[in-house]
Amino acid sequence: MSDDAPGIENLSQETRTFSPPTEFVQNAVARPSLYEEAERDRLAFWRSRASLLSWETPFTETLDWSSPPFARWFADGTLNVAYNCVDRHVESGHGAQVALLAEYEDGSDATFTYADVKDEISRMANVLADLGVRTGDRVAIYLPMIPEAVFAMLACARLGAPHSVVFGGFSAEALRSRIEDAEARVVITADGQNRRGKQLPLKPAVDEALAAGGESVEKVLVVRRTGGDVEWTEGRDVWWHEAREGASTEHAPVPVEAEHPLFILYTSGTTGKPKGIVHTTGGYLTQAAYTHRNVFDLKPSSDVYWCTADVGWITGHTYVVYGPMANRATQVIYEGTPDTPHQGRWWEIVAKHKVSLFYSSPTAIRTAMKWGEDIPAQHDLSSLRLLGSVGEAINPEAWMWYRRVIGGDRCPIVDTWWQTETGGIMISPLPGITDTKPGSAQVPLPGISADVVSDAGESVANGQGGYLVLDKPWPGMLRGIWGDPERFRETYWSRFEGLYFAGDGAKRDEDGDIWLLGRVDDVMNVSGHRLSTMEIESALVSHDWVAEAAVVGAEDATTGQAPVAFVILRGDSEEEVAAAGGEDEVSALLRAHVGKEIGPIAKPKKVLLVTELPKTRSGKIMRRLLRDVAENRQVGDTQTLADASVMDLIQQGLTGRR
Ligand code: WT7
Repeated sequence: MSDDAPGIENLSQETRTFSPPTEFVQNAVARPSLYEEAERDRLAFWRSRASLLSWETPFTETLDWSSPPFARWFADGTLNVAYNCVDRHVESGHGAQVALLAEYEDGSDATFTYADVKDEISRMANVLADLGVRTGDRVAIYLPMIPEAVFAMLACARLGAPHSVVFGGFSAEALRSRIEDAEARVVITADGQNRRGKQLPLKPAVDEALAAGGESVEKVLVVRRTGGDVEWTEGRDVWWHEAREGASTEHAPVPVEAEHPLFILYTSGTTGKPKGIVHTTGGYLTQAAYTHRNVFDLKPSSDVYWCTADVGWITGHTYVVYGPMANRATQVIYEGTPDTPHQGRWWEIVAKHKVSLFYSSPTAIRTAMKWGEDIPAQHDLSSLRLLGSVGEAINPEAWMWYRRVIGGDRCPIVDTWWQTETGGIMISPLPGITDTKPGSAQVPLPGISADVVSDAGESVANGQGGYLVLDKPWPGMLRGIWGDPERFRETYWSRFEGLYFAGDGAKRDEDGDIWLLGRVDDVMNVSGHRLSTMEIESALVSHDWVAEAAVVGAEDATTGQAPVAFVILRGDSEEEVAAAGGEDEVSALLRAHVGKEIGPIAKPKKVLLVTELPKTRSGKIMRRLLRDVAENRQVGDTQTLADASVMDLIQQGLTGRR
């Protein structure tokens, strides 16, 4: 853990509360008795939640926790996730219900019923099987937010082939390292993607990744999205639209054991190397379905749900694909950005499809606030009845704006705390039950047990701050880090004996409600996406000119945090700097380099060239002091620095230059 965690004494003074509207209380999916039921017998509670799913073979044991931290849930049961998300809805007479309302960036749209989805994923499963994919093989998915991304995930699930979705905004290099770590056999991609009115190529990144490594990959299945010329490797590359033609819509889903891996999803940790978080089948899907149904109050026959996350992140896995589809939701899936072709695009989509349940992020809400409330006001948002938030703590001001401007003062807001590792929502108000508080995720869901503990691992009293931990296993929990059981133990289970350490600071208020206070490790949160300071630092030092780099997450009014880099150039690079045209040009070049190494989201907001970095006597960079500089604050206590004059040097250098 970092020695310079953000102060947890900075507690919120927020005291407003909002009771659920009467209508909600009367008709809510979630009943207060859920809490009592879970309290009485937690395992029995989860056992009965598992009946939200259709099991091929029923399980007899709920939880095996005999060798913690490795949990096994429902282990002797078998099931298929795609069958649960699609086929069973068709079999029960809902084949004509719309599953996906696909909205493309250019304003065109397409509709897929559950019967259509069944056909599409069956075809794709057949094609993947023809390409050599067997149960247990890994498949990398690198696609834009189009229905084919959902089909690809479900086609893999149908075969029991764990997918590894790589966000389409990640670089070729990030893709290569993920392909190699998981030893993927097939990559599913598209020729290109539509982004802000432009067509950006996507397949070249796959070609580049595979030229640089990724030797496990035998075939690349390519969805045609943007059209136009693409480089083609004969014998390796296969067009989806061509393969689809001859593919049968009949495919028998493969039942797998409940603990069979469903997917790997890479997320940033405190070191430079992203971790492959492993989620399995039965427990994950149980938690996805249960939380989605109760937290979003889903009424499958009347609601239109929209989660704005990309499938490249865990939110897109659990709350675009698996939770909603297991629950037979009708949902919007949108290809583009919120401001293409205009800043009212999202609200136009809400009005067009009469969206009733809307799930988004604080950063998106703050961006909409910045654009002005007259923009959503131009659209009819009266269909909305519930709003959700995820990604980071939502500041009370944004919460109040969301409630008033988007929710017309009538929609309950669910602020949902969870992580890639938890698989599904863990802490959240339940609509129709919880009196909400702007800025607090409040209470663990029924069946979930969380605590706030002190440095010594002891539960803190109400009104006190500490670290958020999860003290009992839950069905959707990660089963480990792909190929690295030791790192799993070390990262999550070594800080506090027997407790899962989430990496977040938290406090309990006087009512016992939980307020999240941000990461306490070297992980930053940029627009609700997790980035590691070390990962960006190693991207920077991979550039020839850079001798040393330190990155901090500086507060940002829109994105929550933004990376700011402090870089020491190599002694012999002065000429190159001059040749590049000066320091500003070098900064721009290094920003672009990070974009190329990791992806545009990781680009530092600023790259500041310095001659020294503040270090402790043991050589650890004191990022707290750099954060002070990046946030234009008085620099804090420098006593533990090996050389206290370093901060003066840095500041003089910066003010001298800027
Ligand atoms: C980290 C997990 C879970 C999907 C999106 C991010 C922060 C997430 C909240 C919230 C306060 C939140 C935490 C957490 N976080 N939701 N409602 N309130 N903080 O997933 O990339 O795995 O990041 O996001 O710091 O540890 P992720």
